[in-house]
Amino acid sequence: MKEIESARKALREQFEGLEDKKAILRATELKALFDGIREVAPEKRGAYGKAVNELKLEVQGWVEEAMEIDEEVLPLDITAPTDVNAPLPTFIDGNSGTQHPLTTEIDTLCDIFQRMGFVIEESREIDDDYHMFSSLNFPEDHPARDDYDTFMTDEGLVAPAHTSTMQNRVMQKYRDNLQKGEPIAVVVPDRVFRNEDLDATHEHTFYQYEGIYVGRKVTVGNLIATLSAFMNEYFGQELETKLQPFYFPFTEPSFEFAIERPEILRKDDSEEQKWLELLGCGMIHPNVLKAAGIDSTEFTGFAWGGGVERLVMMKNGIEDVRHFESANLKFLRQFK
Ligand code: DAH
Repeated sequence: MKEIESARKALREQFEGLEDKKAILRATELKALFDGIREVAPEKRGAYGKAVNELKLEVQGWVEEAMEIDEEVLPLDITAPTDVNAPLPTFIDGNSGTQHPLTTEIDTLCDIFQRMGFVIEESREIDDDYHMFSSLNFPEDHPARDDYDTFMTDEGLVAPAHTSTMQNRVMQKYRDNLQKGEPIAVVVPDRVFRNEDLDATHEHTFYQYEGIYVGRKVTVGNLIATLSAFMNEYFGQELETKLQPFYFPFTEPSFEFAIERPEILRKDDSEEQKWLELLGCGMIHPNVLKAAGIDSTEFTGFAWGGGVERLVMMKNGIEDVRHFESANLKFLRQFK
């Protein structure tokens, strides 16, 4: 027992000086005590073994305590680099994890727009009334606000119902481009929220990709050309496209942009079945430009906002939007 007590002291001393606290569990003293159990006379062996084991538990306790303190002091750095050469983690059933299909498709989409000269910006998941409505030319108490029914905090902050919340910020951030004779060309893919009844085509949380382009002499023709070029690239084929009139407070004129529905997804030959609305768009309303400090007599622009899920569902023939957030591995593994 004296031997154990002096080993305890030695271990503690050693422990204090250790950088890697866990190394104490590999200390030779500890191993020697365990090896020693065999040498103890049989009648004392039980008590000795128990004491050794207790010491080991105590030492483990030191380590655990030290690690907890470490964690409290060191904030978790989620931007810390991970080893890019490390293999993907393998889960219990032996399968590797994969990137979520929405992440993959957002990457694809950003890549296409970047090659077209657009800069990518992120949105935010909590915003205010000004960015959600007022800066976008929604008058106070206007019924159009009802189309964007979302979640609010007690302080009056909103979970953004569309990525258009970023229009004002993006235009202010890149406003100087215009004086240099360059356009503002930004795409914002991010998460949005709606108070929706869920079904195969409606989720309360989904992704949109917003586009904002402002410059001199920008026309509806530029809008059509930009969106058509994107769709053709994304779907890997030449698609017929169509604009139909619509209403948004933040664009004038406003449109819905449709592409031809793939034959296999058509129920009949009607004109209605021929087209698939993919996004809302239009020429940015002068009041929206003004709110961002841009002279609307000198500059014009177009904007659009579309659903990412819709694109991905079309591309991959997915029938139900709820799969994306379902954490259903069978669904997710199709996208390896
Ligand atoms: N924010 C609209 C929505 O979610 C979509 C939209 C329409 C965005 C027209 C735009 C736009 O930028 O110009 O329904």
